[in-house]
Amino acid sequence: MDNGNSPIKLAILHLEDSAADHRLICRSLERASFSYSITRVETLATFAALATSGSIDLILADYRLPGFTAIDAWSKISHNIRRPPFILLSGAIGEAAAVAAIHLGISDYLHKDDLSQLERVILRTVEVHLTRQAHEKAALELAASEKRLSEFSGYLQVAIERERAAIAREIHDDIGGSLAAAKLDLAWLARHGSDPTANEHIRAAADMLQHALGASQRIMMNLRPSILDQGLVAAVQWLASSFERRTGIVTTVRSSNEGMDPPKPVQLTAYRTAQEALTNVSKYAKCTNVKIEISDAEDFLTMEISDNGLGISEKDFAKPDSYGIRGLRERAKTVGGWLDVSTRMGAGTSVILSVPLINASVQSLEAQFK
Ligand SMILES: Nc1ncnc2c1ncn2[C@@H]1O[C@H](COP(=O)(O)OP(=O)(O)OP(=O)(O)O)[C@@H](O)[C@H]1O
Ligand SMILES: [Mg+2]
Repeated sequence: MDNGNSPIKLAILHLEDSAADHRLICRSLERASFSYSITRVETLATFAALATSGSIDLILADYRLPGFTAIDAWSKISHNIRRPPFILLSGAIGEAAAVAAIHLGISDYLHKDDLSQLERVILRTVEVHLTRQAHEKAALELAASEKRLSEFSGYLQVAIERERAAIAREIHDDIGGSLAAAKLDLAWLARHGSDPTANEHIRAAADMLQHALGASQRIMMNLRPSILDQGLVAAVQWLASSFERRTGIVTTVRSSNEGMDPPKPVQLTAYRTAQEALTNVSKYAKCTNVKIEISDAEDFLTMEISDNGLGISEKDFAKPDSYGIRGLRERAKTVGGWLDVSTRMGAGTSVILSVPLINASVQSLEAQFK
């Protein structure tokens, strides 16, 4: 059956065993404001094949058919993302069953005695369906874009670490090598020179060289924390003690297992997290105490860096040019983990990194670090 009232055409599938009821539906749609075609089916198999073929815009279904119900028909198609909206049209089921059907995801219910409302119910259902499809499409696109962003962020972290390691190597080989050679020459001059003024200058130059060597070692350590070769806990302890020396803030490290040996990318993520959290503490917290706790219990690496400082306000979190905490969140995701920041104004801040240690994404990243 086909009517030709408007350029918008709805392909309706009518699941109905009674030809008389089907005619009744067709008659009640005769003066509908939309154009439509309607096909009647009676069996579950024909219904399922047609309903998800992509050619149907709307389903009208009687509740009770020989050997099955509309709920059986719905469950045949409910998992298919291409399923059209589904309206239950029946006289015999009662309010409770209708509500239960809608809980299952059926779009709407209309009593067969209310067919005057059919056009309105169809138009509303189609509109809701189109809106839902648009939302689903937008959500899928957003998820895909987030996935791309997170993959890019992972790639970026790996590229940055590689670049840092290369710069550290160059500092070591070129600058470190030259400084060490100059230091040897100065030592030779100091041993063989007899002019006291010249010796004075040689000593000053040797002090400057020592300072430059110390600075290049510090820079190398920041670029590529070779201290991690001694294990994560030792590396964080080293960070904490140099932080305490520099700032005077009492810093303690506690760990459930000194010898823990999580995968290398997880160690580097934890180390960089501690580094950024401590930098933030020294810049903003105005605190007297920092506690770092590291644990690898129950196949989770957790690291918590807590201070007793000022706390972070909503406004601080939203600073447009601040990337430290945002970067840590992204970085945690690249090893399958996440970052929580818990803070209260005037009562301090805790930055908590959690990484499941049985995780495929870590293994794939680890391969890239080799
Ligand atoms: N431990 C802390 N105590 C108090 N305030 C903090 C603390 N950590 C961060 N903040 C606040 O949160 C803001 C955001 O920190 P975030 O590390 O993201 O960026 P940033 O340090 O400002 O800049 P970037 O890290 O990009 O150099 C900081 O500017 C600061 O106001
Ligand atoms: Mg910061």
